[in-house]
Amino acid sequence: MNSCPSTDQIRKTFLDFFASKDHLILPSYSLIPENDPTLLLVGAGMAPLKPYFTGERRPPHPRIATCQKCLRTPDIGQVGYTGRHATFFEMLGNFSFGDYFKEQAIIWSWEFVTEILQLSRERLWISIYREDEESFEIWSREIGIAEERIVRLGDEDNFWEIGPGPCGPCSEIYYDLGPEKGCGKPGCTLGCDCDRYLEVWNLVFTQFCREADGSLTNLKKTGIDTGAGLERLAMAMQGVTSLYEIDLISPIFKHFAAL
Ligand code: GLY
Repeated sequence: MNSCPSTDQIRKTFLDFFASKDHLILPSYSLIPENDPTLLLVGAGMAPLKPYFTGERRPPHPRIATCQKCLRTPDIGQVGYTGRHATFFEMLGNFSFGDYFKEQAIIWSWEFVTEILQLSRERLWISIYREDEESFEIWSREIGIAEERIVRLGDEDNFWEIGPGPCGPCSEIYYDLGPEKGCGKPGCTLGCDCDRYLEVWNLVFTQFCREADGSLTNLKKTGIDTGAGLERLAMAMQGVTSLYEIDLISPIFKHFAAL
């Protein structure tokens, strides 16, 4: 891929990559959830696919990939204060329903960011759920990430859920925008509120169901749910440090600034 692709090219490249890995490519679902009274708006690629993870409905294919329109209400308070939060955004995702799991998801995500997008390995960092030794082994031994670049985080950052339903521990890929974007505080690392480490892709190892009473039960089949922020990948690829500067958003921003 060329060194400064458009956001449209990145979207297409992601979907083509997962089509080549036997994923069924579906169009985005509506931003308004259908038959899900637990969500006001769709805030993740997996939200419209919940019944496929729980086994309530049979997916049209065990592997799916989408680019989903999203609006994440818990992030609204941060929009405008950081360079990485948006109201509306697009989420790239690959999903497995009882098919591949942790190892394959990690291998493909790394192949995509380093070989297809050719992001600099020197800028990439990994987070894992603090007790997830299996992910640690895959990232360090199979992929070859230096141990000091694999950061263990807790429930707040690395256990993923969106209302009741399928959920699980996750592992994330971060892109370092450079010390000049950091807060400079001691201990600034992945998960810090500042703009230095940009989370570009979240890999969720879907194995639990959050019940309405708050308890966790095991899903009958494990799955994979990933979410990569399209506009954030575009930031990394286009060498800008705010999503307002990417090719898709900057003309809109400039138009309103002129008005
Ligand atoms: N479902 C994974 C994410 O939205 O980050």
